Amino acid sequence: MKFSGLTIGVPKEILAGELRVAVTPDVAKKFVENGARFVIESGAGEGAFFFDSDYSAVGAEVVSTAQEVYSRANLILKVKEPQFNNSIGKHEAELINRGATIVAFLHPAHDVNHKAIRILAEREITSFTLDSIPRISKAQSMDALTSMSTVAGYKSVIFGANRIKKFIPMMPTSAGMIPPSEGVVVGVGVAGLQAIATAKRLGAKVKALDIRPEAAAQAKSLGVEVIPFDVPQELAMGKGGYAKRLPKEWYEKEREILSKHLQSCDILVLSALIPGEVAPILVTEPMVTSMKKGSVIVDIAIDQGGNCELTEEGKEYDYNSVWLIGMLNIPATLSIDSTRMFSSNIWHFVDNLVKDGKIDADSDDQIVKETLVTRAGSIVHHGALLAMGEIKE
Ligand code: NAI
Repeated sequence: MKFSGLTIGVPKEILAGELRVAVTPDVAKKFVENGARFVIESGAGEGAFFFDSDYSAVGAEVVSTAQEVYSRANLILKVKEPQFNNSIGKHEAELINRGATIVAFLHPAHDVNHKAIRILAEREITSFTLDSIPRISKAQSMDALTSMSTVAGYKSVIFGANRIKKFIPMMPTSAGMIPPSEGVVVGVGVAGLQAIATAKRLGAKVKALDIRPEAAAQAKSLGVEVIPFDVPQELAMGKGGYAKRLPKEWYEKEREILSKHLQSCDILVLSALIPGEVAPILVTEPMVTSMKKGSVIVDIAIDQGGNCELTEEGKEYDYNSVWLIGMLNIPATLSIDSTRMFSSNIWHFVDNLVKDGKIDADSDDQIVKETLVTRAGSIVHHGALLAMGEIKE
């Protein structure tokens, strides 16, 4: 059978506030049916309402400690990158068996993870990162980053809606007609499109801004007003059609244009991203101060530093009567569906990775090559090596 010889281990996530788990009982069942042994830490699924008994019922073995999961498994499936486990007093990367494999969001280019990546390499662990899955059609079913951005875009509007002190849709009332709230979405990628769709479903009047003509066209097709900003295409787009960092004077123009639209905005969603870079600052302090009292900014680009210069990682606060949200790990707040999506994505990834019960890390497959981080004692991930200063562009 395809997965015979593999012992898959799923530990409980230890990041504060993390409620997701890498594998649902339904997907665990598929691994077991295809010959894998499946070991999961007790309580690992509880944050997403998947209980030990659900895993036992599909043939998984529930064990009481993380150490037991790590010591038994030759393939670890996780959501978040390995980190120091305070209750055990050891780094998760040191708990993984020498020579075993891990698949997770490792974010290997991010400097906070360099230590973990070095430990994985030293221990000859083969590691794959789901945040490097190429956006090609074959990889669509494995694209966990897209799944999680979908959640972030949707939830950003829900957070905003929950904070503003107004109705979102136009509301006929006994006191007359109340006009709809206004939403502005900056950055119309995966998260931005979902934010637009959610704001529209709630009945908001929505405007959108992006520098890629394709993104602007997609926003238009959702029936929203596109804020005109005509950046020359060669400045806006780089390799593979992704957004590029603009020259300084173009950001100044963009902020000037956006400012005008912020005067009437109730919920501003910021999700502008340049792949692999710090997020561009598109909203400055004077822009925030000029916004309507009672409005909200949800800065989901906060993981990359944020698109607003005032938002702070993991914090929400009032600034001159504008509520700023810089919440991290939004997918954990929708743990049931984000776990379902993540689990389905990781299933397809592992299914593509394993040939005859063996992990085929040397495959020529583009997905395998681009997601591989450490192999046979070396760090091989391009973005990680660049960020660590080991190679030059
Ligand atoms: P994406 O790459 O699909 O979309 C980013 C969009 O920003 C692109 O359409 C790009 O053209 C646009 N953009 C770049 N520069 C711009 C500028 N100057 N003005 C207007 N638009 C500009 O990225 P995706 O997947 O939608 O992610 C968006 C953000 O959401 C990222 O920062 C990501 O890290 C974040 N995110 C946050 C989560 C959280 O829990 N806080 C979870 C998932 C995603």
